[in-house]
Amino acid sequence: MLILGIETSCDETGIALYDSERGLLAHALHTQIAMHQEYGGVVPELASRDHIRRVLPLVREVMGPAGAVLADLDAVAYTQGPGLAGALLVGTSVANALAFALGVPALGIHHLEGHLLSPLLASNPPAFPFVALLVSGGHTQLMRVAAVGEYELLGETVDDAAGEAFDKTANLLGLDYPGGPALAQLAGQGRVDRYKLPRPMLEQMHKTGNLDFSFSGLKTAVLLLVRKEAPDAVGRADVAASFQEAIVDVLVAKSLYALERTGLNQLVVAGGVGANRRLRDRLDRSAAAQGCTVFYPEFEFCTDNGAMIALAGALRLGARIMAAGQRPETSSAAKLAKAAAAQHYAFSVKPRWDLSATVL
Ligand code: KG4
Ligand code: ZN
Repeated sequence: MLILGIETSCDETGIALYDSERGLLAHALHTQIAMHQEYGGVVPELASRDHIRRVLPLVREVMGPAGAVLADLDAVAYTQGPGLAGALLVGTSVANALAFALGVPALGIHHLEGHLLSPLLASNPPAFPFVALLVSGGHTQLMRVAAVGEYELLGETVDDAAGEAFDKTANLLGLDYPGGPALAQLAGQGRVDRYKLPRPMLEQMHKTGNLDFSFSGLKTAVLLLVRKEAPDAVGRADVAASFQEAIVDVLVAKSLYALERTGLNQLVVAGGVGANRRLRDRLDRSAAAQGCTVFYPEFEFCTDNGAMIALAGALRLGARIMAAGQRPETSSAAKLAKAAAAQHYAFSVKPRWDLSATVL
């Protein structure tokens, strides 16, 4: 089955073509970072307008090299939420229009499901069940993933997301949007133990069994520290390193505790913050010491992309077809999928959407 994936939830237009037997055939991405940079953050209206300009040219860009034409598609998967409403509407409209014209299913995918399944695109993928740590600009969650569509929330942030904390702290230190990568780079030149910063919701973890996160206090602690110390360039690198270490300490400890509590030995790390080198090094070492393995998406699929949406669409459609007693690769399965598609194309976006509430 050939699936087109469309991602337009935030500031990246990502398009990909995934074949359920041959794997990822092609993908293309346009990032709006340069456009939003002068405003210091994502401007939703500009994001939507840019997605409109990019989606169809990028669809053409992936079809050509894959030697495919639109008529070959068996389904169109798109990010239905969560994200910016206007940005989501662009991908959702294009996906539904294409799918309607072709008479194939339009599959609304949860953005975080895309992220948490993205390590399955790597050459050494994890097997179900596993624990997933989702760390993006909008979310910080630990999930138990039993199978495609079976997600149990173990813990999540009660305030800021990890990526958001990186971005806001970077801003405090005078670094450009998007701050996460810039802060990580600055942290590489600093000392991790110069400033003592809080590790929120960590001390009581083993007693309470609580796997939730909180990062806004840490951000405030950095704000007060920067006001008090007015650090020079060296001091700023030390603040960055101390901040990164505090976040990494919390993410590592909670992830390992989630593995211990669920009795699982595979951890999947997904979302933009999963690109952080320090987090990867520390997780790898601590997990190995506990007899566990950590899986990451390829670097290019850590941040938003169309490949993870096409993959999630393919896996969901495959699971639905198998539930109907068919094998996904047969022509009767394709017919079944088309019959399902004929039902309706009324579409809606879900700017706020709970992953554990999605149904297959
Ligand atoms: O998953 P993603 O691309 O978009 C969302 O769905 O939010 O994640 C973007 C977030 C941003 O907050 C960005 O600053 C952060 O991931 N990020 C990083 C790094 N690369 C991206 N944070 C820390 N270290 C990095 N290397
Ligand atoms: Zn994302």
